[in-house]
Amino acid sequence: MSGAAQLAHRPVMVRTALDYLRPRAGAWIIDGTFGAGDHTRALLEAGANVLGIDQDPQAADRVGTLADGAAFVFAAGNFRDMERLAGSHDLSAVAGVLLDLGVSSMQLDEGERGFAFRADGPLDMRMAATGPSASDIVNEAPMEEIAALLWRYGEERHSRRIARRIVEARERAPILTTGRLAEVVASAYPGGPRRAHPARRTFQALRIHVNDELGALQEGLEAGTRLLEPGGRLVVISYHSLEDRIVKRFLNDSPRIQALTKRPLTPSDAEVEANPRARSAKLRAGERTAA
Ligand SMILES: C[S@@+](CC[C@H](N)C(=O)[O-])C[C@H]1O[C@@H](n2cnc3c(N)ncnc32)[C@H](O)[C@@H]1O
Repeated sequence: MSGAAQLAHRPVMVRTALDYLRPRAGAWIIDGTFGAGDHTRALLEAGANVLGIDQDPQAADRVGTLADGAAFVFAAGNFRDMERLAGSHDLSAVAGVLLDLGVSSMQLDEGERGFAFRADGPLDMRMAATGPSASDIVNEAPMEEIAALLWRYGEERHSRRIARRIVEARERAPILTTGRLAEVVASAYPGGPRRAHPARRTFQALRIHVNDELGALQEGLEAGTRLLEPGGRLVVISYHSLEDRIVKRFLNDSPRIQALTKRPLTPSDAEVEANPRARSAKLRAGERTAA
């Protein structure tokens, strides 16, 4: 396990998120990515009521004592279904929506979940326990489809080469573990000095595809905006350029939202030093207009 992987979970850009969400007593805020509940806890401490949503079955186990208070409710599901999930708690308008995208440190650290190329485990990568896994894609999809998704979601320059090597390897034996996939990808990579692990982009691409992360983000932004009351705030923390592009476009183009951040805000050097996972974070915020 790397040093970063051993770190406890820490919420990213929590102060900035709160500054934009402006939590106040009695107002409801949706935390669409509950995770370990750290952003939720900060919102509750600031006096707001929170609906926490997460599609990971293990997130519900982390609700713990929070569920005892009247100020907090939890709904298991995808934030793209936010309106239905809010409706099940009689919420039809809220003062804020927070999305802190991607996978949590807990998901990454557990080899069993199959997200990490540095830890060996079953090749899964599903945040929710449904739908095809990364192993299904890698072992069954045609080579062209694998190459296309590595290019689109991983911006992987060697997508065709890697896809060809994956197909050759799976003909010998199915690729069932993260360790074997990482090896296969590394063997397809041209030599020379590198800044990152050669499998990083492949794993990112598979994860985005398996969880339809970009489709969920677009629908989550739309659903969140419909739920916001006029003056309500939408805050999104993203971790790679494909997500940030979607958020930026949405905030600039949606007729019901006024962007509050011209450029994405990023964590301080001190935060990145204390929490390396904050390194790539970008925060954008918008406000629901009256119309
Ligand atoms: C970066 S973590 C959030 C950490 C959280 N803000 C905290 O303070 O603990 C992202 C979480 O969002 C969840 N998630 C990602 N995409 C989701 C989606 N479309 N619907 C629901 N949950 C999602 C993941 O399962 C994960 O637990």
